[in-house]
Amino acid sequence: MPAFLTLDDLAVADRRVLVRTDLNLPMKDGQVTDATRLVRAAATFAELAKKRAKVVVLSHFGRPKGPDPKLSLGQLLEPLRGALPGLSVSFAADCIGPVAATAVAAVAPGDLVLLENLRFHKGEEANDPDFVRALAALGDLYVNDAFSTAHRAHASTAGLAALLPAAAGRLMQAELEALGKALEHPERPVVAIVGGAKVSTKLALLGNLVGKVDRLIIGGAMANTFIHAAGGDVGASLCEKELADTARDIVKRARDGGCTIVLPVDGVVAAKLDGAAPRATVPADQIPADRMMLDVGPASVTRFEAELAAARTVVWNGPVGAFEVPPFDAGTTALAKAVAAATRAGRLVSVAGGGDTVAALAHAGVVDQLSYVSTAGGAFLEWLEGKTLPGVAALEAAAAKKSR
Ligand code: 3PG
Ligand code: MG
Repeated sequence: MPAFLTLDDLAVADRRVLVRTDLNLPMKDGQVTDATRLVRAAATFAELAKKRAKVVVLSHFGRPKGPDPKLSLGQLLEPLRGALPGLSVSFAADCIGPVAATAVAAVAPGDLVLLENLRFHKGEEANDPDFVRALAALGDLYVNDAFSTAHRAHASTAGLAALLPAAAGRLMQAELEALGKALEHPERPVVAIVGGAKVSTKLALLGNLVGKVDRLIIGGAMANTFIHAAGGDVGASLCEKELADTARDIVKRARDGGCTIVLPVDGVVAAKLDGAAPRATVPADQIPADRMMLDVGPASVTRFEAELAAARTVVWNGPVGAFEVPPFDAGTTALAKAVAAATRAGRLVSVAGGGDTVAALAHAGVVDQLSYVSTAGGAFLEWLEGKTLPGVAALEAAAAKKSR
């Protein structure tokens, strides 16, 4: 039994259902550049509409410091309508007070209203009780479908669950079920792939993972810090030398806990991050003084693939090279294709998340070939760190209260 309720547990017909979703979509020149979150959020709206709920859509957009027309959710109205063909969606220019109340009162069963950006009010991020009450006054039930915002303890992500009957939406449910399969009760061996530029931003994550996974593949520039800590020469590579002790401590904790850390054995080096610069493949711990490692080399890819061949579950966050600048995408793309192939063959449960990681999977053309790709950036990282996510904790507390 999951520790939270779902849409299956709510009687929604004719009720006003506040749905916290994450419409914080990337936009450029007024156009949505990646609609993934919207597409994945649509299932919950469609189901609630079909069940004749009066759907009230809550979201933030950007990080406004107060009302800011440039960050109005009004610009997401047409994209939202586009994702929900056949449904009627209106818009209210405020998310609380008389403007919101009038718009919500006009919503018929099976219809939706999108309320203005929650963060136009300071009470949202402060989880201010008055603001929570003002939101709660607009609904009878609360559904949180925004896993990607669950690391925030805000009024709409945490506060509301204490005031209204609360359940997870279908996207939140799918995220939590997929992540649970990957780390809480996975099929072993479990391999984690962690990449990216800096060890310093992923210390908590590495510390949590070494206690949970059987193999930890470290790639990207952060591998240089580990190679340096083990006495290797990283040349001009990005490397946090001041974190050598920390890296050694992570290696020791891994060893004590039975987790094997797998580092690159070779690297593709150049004098600068430029696809046209002369390159060479050298041992990862013998990088010439004026060269930097920009991708893992072919022998490393072979080694990583061997780990994947033996694994049953893989969790991935962070590219293993500078994939934005071909040909330094080769290692990440090869690894992505290997994960996708093993998943397609039914040998591997694969879960990935984080903005760069999803971009790298998309670049490799395999985003839809993994078992699960999270819509979350920061929330996925905090989950990998083993942290309690306030939005999830609030749903669990609401479910526990109800069962007492
Ligand atoms: C995101 O895009 O990461 C989420 O919507 C959370 O946004 P925030 O980092 O501004 O809280
Ligand atoms: Mg963020």
